[in-house]
Amino acid sequence: MDNVNKIITLLEELLGDAFEACGYERRFGAVTVSNRPDLCQYQCNGAMAAAKQYRKAPIAIANEVVAALGERDMISTCDAVAPGFININVKSEYLADYVLRMGREEHFGVEQAENPRTVVIDYGGANVAKPLHVGHMRPAVIGESVKRILRYVGHKVIGDAHLGDWGTPIGLIITELRVRKPDLVYFDPDYTGEYPKEPPFDVSELEEIYPYASKWSKEHDDYREESRKAILELQQGRRGYMALWEHIMRVSMEDLKKNYDNLGTQFDIWGKESDAQKHIPDMIRDMKENGYAYISEGALVVDVKEETDTKEVPPCMILKSDGATLYNTTDLATIVERMKLFDPDQIIYVVDKRQDLYFDQIFRCARKTKLVKPDTILTFIGNGTMNGQDGKPFKTREGGVMRLEVLIENVAEEVMRKMADRDFPEEEKREIAHKVGLAALKYGDLSNQATKDYIFDMERFTSFEGNTGPYILYTMVRIKSILAKLGELPEMPEQGGAYERGTEETKLLLTIARFADMVEKAAAELAPHKVCQYLFELADNVNGFYHANKIVGESDEAKKNEWISILRIALAIFADGIAMLAFEAPDRM
Ligand code: ARG
Repeated sequence: MDNVNKIITLLEELLGDAFEACGYERRFGAVTVSNRPDLCQYQCNGAMAAAKQYRKAPIAIANEVVAALGERDMISTCDAVAPGFININVKSEYLADYVLRMGREEHFGVEQAENPRTVVIDYGGANVAKPLHVGHMRPAVIGESVKRILRYVGHKVIGDAHLGDWGTPIGLIITELRVRKPDLVYFDPDYTGEYPKEPPFDVSELEEIYPYASKWSKEHDDYREESRKAILELQQGRRGYMALWEHIMRVSMEDLKKNYDNLGTQFDIWGKESDAQKHIPDMIRDMKENGYAYISEGALVVDVKEETDTKEVPPCMILKSDGATLYNTTDLATIVERMKLFDPDQIIYVVDKRQDLYFDQIFRCARKTKLVKPDTILTFIGNGTMNGQDGKPFKTREGGVMRLEVLIENVAEEVMRKMADRDFPEEEKREIAHKVGLAALKYGDLSNQATKDYIFDMERFTSFEGNTGPYILYTMVRIKSILAKLGELPEMPEQGGAYERGTEETKLLLTIARFADMVEKAAAELAPHKVCQYLFELADNVNGFYHANKIVGESDEAKKNEWISILRIALAIFADGIAMLAFEAPDRM
């Protein structure tokens, strides 16, 4: 940001000058938010580091620097403390000024990337013909948030659903349809006419077929062989199978779109594994011609192990011995497709962390065979599992796989119960419960580091208190209701007034002031949990501030307006924050 340099940056300027004035390198003036907020707001540990280089006692250096710093506009106290810390507090008037200035800035002063990256993010991965289930939730929720955080700091991000529409499941479905409806024209190899427009099944039949066929194939070798052949024939372009596959796609896509929409996940493109198939022949030819791919035990492979490996990284298989392509082939060809379409600087995959080694192979293979530019960043965010109370992957009470829409519905129901005493019209109440329920679910997920497993806890996630989505929303609703009581609001003041500010107010100002720093870190580390952490703290501070001060009843109009302005800015920051987590706030709850 131009007019609102981060407080830390400003302090670093001052401290850097002071270190330099005393004859030390200015880099020792690095400042962080204090890890002992009871002692001070900001701290500089540079005297400790300088002590080694200049062979002097750290406290002596700290004392010199503090003396050189002298009186400063923005600083209220700056002390050297044993063994050599420099503890800094900023004047509360300056803080209020700063926060008011933030409020006038686009994105509250979050700097827009100097060199915006084009990023493709692959975070759907649902398979057609299968309903969206709870296992699909984490990639969809984490990916959506990472996409929004990166956009907030100015990158160009393309979200891709990358649906699984080409592998084993399709072969199984075709095989099972053939058993059930052998007379369908799609199975007649001699048929040359047009195929019917109407699909020979509906979505519920499709969803029943797949698990049935999958189970059956595990117990019957000939059936499995049959479906393997079906997928190969499909990949070779057998007309009847292509027509069936198109029906499967259309019926299933419609359902998947509805479900992703219900979750608030918005893909920019609905890419599919099959989209990349057209690139496979050329890709394989190049890999062979350039000597990267060779035949091993009948299969075509590329070696991807590296000298520094501590674990065995097997070769990346490109073609099976029968010539069939695999998951690997598709992912590599999808990289080719993405480079052609978007020329991205980075591709991010949000996929179950159990595919860690697999993506390691894919990335190495893509680099080695030059599918990407040398500086294209390939990033794998391996998400952990959402577990049930028993610590095992979340299941229905009967032990089956839960549909995502059912889970969303259950959470909304629980929120409805929590709002039982609210006297809202039924329809509005349901809408609110859906919003708050989604927030509960997504916050419960995103507040954990993506790679960690966590336990789904209905009671805790939906609570209106504590580190939860509903608590964040409740705090926003509280601010909205205060503002509503006040009616038309005056313009926000340009500058902070000359008041004594209480502890709670100062805490709130400091937290607001940290926003840009937090967002930049969350974007650099692709870490939505940092946004959650911040919003939780902000909510606590807003509530602390609200309880410590009689805002609406304050008689000093200027002071009252400053307080209200701080709340308005906090509310706007909440709104941007929850938008980064991809949920919304109701007007009341
Ligand atoms: N459809 C795959 C599965 O069900 C996940 C796809 C993840 N994304 C990818 N580019 N491989 O396991």
